[in-house]
Amino acid sequence: MRTRTVQHVTLPSFMYGTAWKEERTEALAREAITAGFRAIDTANQRRHYFEAGVGAAVAAATSAGEVTRDDLFLQTKFTYRRGQDHRLPYDPEASPAEQVSQSFASSLEHLSVDHLDSYVLHGPSTPYGFGELDRITWQAMEEQHRAKRTRLLGISNVSLEQLQALVDHAEVAPAFVQNRCFARNGWDSAVRAFCQEHDILYQGFSLLTANRRELATPAIAAIAERTGLSLPQLVFRFALQVGMVPLTGTTDAAHMRHDLEVYEQSLDAADVDSIERVAL
Ligand SMILES: NC(=O)c1ccc[n+]([C@@H]2O[C@H](COP(=O)([O-])OP(=O)(O)OC[C@H]3O[C@@H](n4cnc5c(N)ncnc54)[C@H](OP(=O)(O)O)[C@@H]3O)[C@@H](O)[C@H]2O)c1
Repeated sequence: MRTRTVQHVTLPSFMYGTAWKEERTEALAREAITAGFRAIDTANQRRHYFEAGVGAAVAAATSAGEVTRDDLFLQTKFTYRRGQDHRLPYDPEASPAEQVSQSFASSLEHLSVDHLDSYVLHGPSTPYGFGELDRITWQAMEEQHRAKRTRLLGISNVSLEQLQALVDHAEVAPAFVQNRCFARNGWDSAVRAFCQEHDILYQGFSLLTANRRELATPAIAAIAERTGLSLPQLVFRFALQVGMVPLTGTTDAAHMRHDLEVYEQSLDAADVDSIERVAL
């Protein structure tokens, strides 16, 4: 339960997310490593992430001898122009493939590493379909994979149809989907089922914030009370038991440790089933 294996790569099953932390990114990522997180998610998208802050935390933790680079699973993303502000990690006039290459090189520099563990397309370029630009972009990401500069590839904010199109088209298959996970659609059940069939690991984010109403129902309160788990623990433990890799982006060191306690906890099958169907 503490690890998952996909495409022959083993990684921690619980990720620390670094969005929206600005100048606190380094200190919080460092705290997350100390708390026990070994998988870290970021993006080369200065608008929402401070990738260099993650790099500084990794450098501090490795030079303190707390971890080695190989103990860590580092994931970052390529973000299209429309998801960025003016602080671009590439030349907007460059070709799409060149933009991937520039953004990737800038990520390695920000993180002070010679390879990534996972490189994720932050989202398809259009709400529907997986078009020409997405195919060219994925091919450029495949080049990084072939050159062994990233061990795995992934895609985020993707619908089932887009994921199907990517899997049909890809020469290097995605190892991850990273999606906002809503209880109201069975916790993204259709995408998760597709992932399971295709040896793709599903990373779930906004597990707490996207599901406030569903988590406030008497059925959930009853499970929390009976098991003694807090709501965050209930959700993260549920996520682990259904095979997801959950993300937490907490900014509180006590919450980091509290979240990792889920490795010691367990839910019975009936409770997992009730949580899975809480909004159906
Ligand atoms: N691919 C994408 O487009 C995308 C989009 C959004 C997020 N993400 C990734 O997912 C990560 C997590 O983001 P998220 O949307 O899931 O939300 P989050 O940043 O984890 O926010 C969770 C909220 O719940 C609160 N909270 C209270 N108790 C908590 C506990 N025990 N554990 C965790 N949070 C607790 C947190 O407050 P405290 O800080 O006080 O704990 C915070 O306000 C991001 O940092 C990012 O890496 C990716």
